[in-house]
Amino acid sequence: MSSDTLAIRGGTVVDATGSRRADVIVGEDGRILAVEPGLDGDRSLDASGCIVAPGFVDLHTHLRQPGHEEAETIESAARGAALGGFTAVVAMPNTTPTMDSAAVVREVQELAVGVACEVFPSAAITVDRRGEALAPMAELARLGVRIFTDDGSGVQNERLMRTALEYAGSLSHLSDGQPLVLAQHCEVDSLAKGGVMHEGEWSSLLGMPGQPAEAEELMVMRDIALARLTGTRLHFQHLSTAGSVAMVRAAKQAGLPVSAEATPHHFTLDHSSCAGFDSAFKVHPPLRTVEDVAAVKAGLADGTIDAIATDHAPHTSQDKDRPFGEAPPGMIGLETAFTLANSELGLPIEQVIGLLSWRPAAIAGIHGRHGGPIVEGAAANLTVVDPDAEWSVSGAAMASRSTNTPFEGRKLRGRVRHTILDGEPVVIDNLAVR
Ligand code: DOR
Repeated sequence: MSSDTLAIRGGTVVDATGSRRADVIVGEDGRILAVEPGLDGDRSLDASGCIVAPGFVDLHTHLRQPGHEEAETIESAARGAALGGFTAVVAMPNTTPTMDSAAVVREVQELAVGVACEVFPSAAITVDRRGEALAPMAELARLGVRIFTDDGSGVQNERLMRTALEYAGSLSHLSDGQPLVLAQHCEVDSLAKGGVMHEGEWSSLLGMPGQPAEAEELMVMRDIALARLTGTRLHFQHLSTAGSVAMVRAAKQAGLPVSAEATPHHFTLDHSSCAGFDSAFKVHPPLRTVEDVAAVKAGLADGTIDAIATDHAPHTSQDKDRPFGEAPPGMIGLETAFTLANSELGLPIEQVIGLLSWRPAAIAGIHGRHGGPIVEGAAANLTVVDPDAEWSVSGAAMASRSTNTPFEGRKLRGRVRHTILDGEPVVIDNLAVR
């Protein structure tokens, strides 16, 4: 046995193969040495009463670096991710400059060396996310980019989106045979433009311009048609309406190559939250109706929606303190994702963990390193959660440089206790150690 071993003792191990009481021993090389009851190591972490799970994977994190380091850096976001149980995050490309070139993707990869979670850059589908010309996808795929998205906006032009899908479909030889994934922020600009919240009874009452559900649903419908036409993998980001969930369900039943994610705020909050004109509740896509929230939850429960993704979107208080209509959209979410899923979804813990780990890991094509299973020889990227721990959300207490959480003061159940990255603890007893 290795000379410096780490034991995670007394917990219940949960992965895609099921759950069992076992201790986990990790070797010096960052790999799991053994998984069985009654083990000990040179160092140990207590996991009694806890679940030992594969590290969580966030398909949707805004790291803000390069360009907006006043709101977040790769280092601060990674620390927040680790505190939220994530061992891997997919970085969104709406940085300044945009992640649409080898130079910027390489810069993000270099800045991410040694931070508290593994960072997988996505890249833009179109140059500068302007929706006019394709980014150099082959060159970016050669650097390891697996997910392409113009997140923050959708690709408006059908023909360009079709070309992007066809091109991505021809590049799998650059990604070990795994399909590249085009991920879409579904929003038809001409319908959404000017809207600051969901268009419905609350926008009427508050006198604020709205974005109709159809702004999202028309693009979901179009992209399902384009997935059928091209046969290329397509991933729907932050689904927020009942109509979108129903269309994705039908597309999957028809055998089309689509997947989807939903955010914690879309399965917990509805548009009535905007009544106080608090810009912490302003987000794109907007918080929708109670019926939409129920449909997103049902989609997560029946597998229509494959994964929970945070859409962690830090903004400085200077920006968020502007009036609701003028403040930028977005909310932080890395440190509250697990606890919200655990408290609010009403699903078995095994399913909650799957939505946060092995299912997003498979979409990102990183299931060799993240998302389990927890077996001898696997990379020790793990998270230990206490599903019964109670805590109150405080933006100021989080690792993020920004504090824009809509859950401030909420008492929730379930907390990440330890996170282990490549065999090394990065969070111990709720505290970041990297
Ligand atoms: O609310 C949002 N904020 N939605 C997005 O798509 C982008 C994000 C951001 O970057 O702030």
